[in-house]
Amino acid sequence: MYRTHTCNELRSSDIGRHVTLAGWVASRRDHGGVIFIDLRDREGRTQVVFRPELSAGAAEAAHALHDEDVVQIRGEVAERIPGTANPKLDTGEIEVVASELIILNRSAPLPFQLDANVTNEDLRLTYRYLDLRRPPMLQNLRTRHTLNRVTRDYLDRYGFIEVETPILSKSTPEGAREFLVPSRLYPGQFYALSQSPQQFKQLLMVGGIERYYQIAKCFRDEDPRADRITELTQIDLEASFIEREDIIRLVEGLLAEIFRATRGAEVATPFPRLTYREAMDRFGSDKPDMRFGVELVDFSEAFRESQFKVFRGALDQGGVVKAINAKGFAGITAGQVEELTNLAKSSGARGLAFIKVENGEWKSPIVKFLGEPEKATLRERLAIEEGDLILFGAGQWETVCTVLGRIRSRVADLCGLERDPSDLKFLWVLDFPLMAYDAAENKWNAMHHPFTRPKTEDIPLLERGEYDKVRAEAYDVVLNGVEIGGGSIRIHEGDLQTKQFAALGIPPEAQQKLFRHLLEAFRYGAPPHGGIALGIDRLLMLITDTPNIRDVIAFPKNSRGFDLLMEAPSAVSDRQLRELHLQIRKRQ
Ligand code: AMO
Ligand code: AMP
Repeated sequence: MYRTHTCNELRSSDIGRHVTLAGWVASRRDHGGVIFIDLRDREGRTQVVFRPELSAGAAEAAHALHDEDVVQIRGEVAERIPGTANPKLDTGEIEVVASELIILNRSAPLPFQLDANVTNEDLRLTYRYLDLRRPPMLQNLRTRHTLNRVTRDYLDRYGFIEVETPILSKSTPEGAREFLVPSRLYPGQFYALSQSPQQFKQLLMVGGIERYYQIAKCFRDEDPRADRITELTQIDLEASFIEREDIIRLVEGLLAEIFRATRGAEVATPFPRLTYREAMDRFGSDKPDMRFGVELVDFSEAFRESQFKVFRGALDQGGVVKAINAKGFAGITAGQVEELTNLAKSSGARGLAFIKVENGEWKSPIVKFLGEPEKATLRERLAIEEGDLILFGAGQWETVCTVLGRIRSRVADLCGLERDPSDLKFLWVLDFPLMAYDAAENKWNAMHHPFTRPKTEDIPLLERGEYDKVRAEAYDVVLNGVEIGGGSIRIHEGDLQTKQFAALGIPPEAQQKLFRHLLEAFRYGAPPHGGIALGIDRLLMLITDTPNIRDVIAFPKNSRGFDLLMEAPSAVSDRQLRELHLQIRKRQ
């Protein structure tokens, strides 16, 4: 038997007991011949003491121990000398007096100290297996395990069946760029790694499964960002004969259980709801952080006749004028003004007009253009007081909302607005537009994906080609400014799906080539269905309160999409390429 107890088990009630422990040497201290080591395993730490007068051989060997050597120790549990108990350790009242030391394996000197705050993430990722020995990393993996376990139990209770779907699949335009896998058996042909089980889960509904879920790996060949990774995991689910409200209630219950099990937090349900339009109008984001106010206020009516050409011009062109009040932030520095202006410009604005309220005066290059009634409206609707900073956006509705939404978040950072991670502000965002126009490509794209159902009352708009007005039966769930999940009720009729593909610029022949499986399936009695997918990695960032999405993944790629541990991607042999009928072109 390697061990009788874990390193987090022994207590004062065990004093006198003969035990065997195994683990890693977390630290070694030499107190004039008496050697102390902290022995660590997955569960915790136990202090072991080697006394030369009791067992000379073991003490001698203990002298030569290094950090992270793997050892087995036999000995007797003893009370620590009074005054030396360690209240920070669960085993802090006792120590094991060693009679025998067996070295199971040696460790080379470590590339970084496990108990230090290592800022070089690439170093941690290169030696991820060492990084995982650090308790916070282990804790994250345990939390992930709990989330998966609770999810499986919960969905099982509601009659959902876990079905695995293929990872090697077909390249279809679903939304994200796909990873391609060349085929050996079919020269010149490619699989695509599944970017989500979307089409399979819909086919499962046609297959009569009725309630499906999967803890699903998804692959998207996009540039990694703070909360965007290329290899993500979803709680993916789909159900037949359900409505939006069924999905919403199911997901609220699931999230409440997840947060209870992982954080001991009670989540209030039902969650508040906003339509996409309201969310953009009031918070300038389709995933607003509801832990703070600073709402966008519309002044289009008030400035209809404005003397300020920027506002007037925007309104004359059918745009809007909106403003936010950064309360008490009039003391903003010139550098901060410049930073905010640059942020506004990089978000599509032409500028960022502002007013500082200092010493009872409104200070701004634009004040001279403001009439008394305009000032009165601003004062009243923004509750302007001494010390406030008012920031304006003028232009097209969507641009202005987006710009001020980003400014709103940044101002919250700069003002140090309290954003407590344990303040869990869940939100549903509903009624997204079905499609969004891509000016660069001069085409309409699906806002969610091409299988999302238009709202029934908006189907005539779709048929008339008024794409900008069509709303989708789509919903996102948001927590503290992060989109943690998204889904929709789907199209289940072949003719509607064909129309939707056509609206997205996919002509009939291409539809058959890309989506024949789905269109054909819809001919054989596809039930009404819908579903959602929750991003597990993002959820875990919020649950564990880490800003780094890679910290909740055992073996992540780094921020540049490179696997430093395995060193992937990597070159392959000519023979492998030949088998795959591939040739690498020389760089131009
Ligand atoms: P969607 O693409 O919105 O929907 O993804 C659902 C959720 O998955 C998470 N997520 C990501 N997390 C980290 N990195 C990424 N690159 C990433 N992409 C997505 C988000 C997101 O809300 N098949 C549909 C779901 C459906 O309609 O049922 C889908 O995949 O939290
Ligand atoms: P200008 O007359 O162009 O110098 O602009 C006067 C002020 O209005 C400056 O502070 C600009 O940053 C700001 N401004 C210009 N265009 C916009 C816009 N579209 N929305 C908000 N503010 C703007």
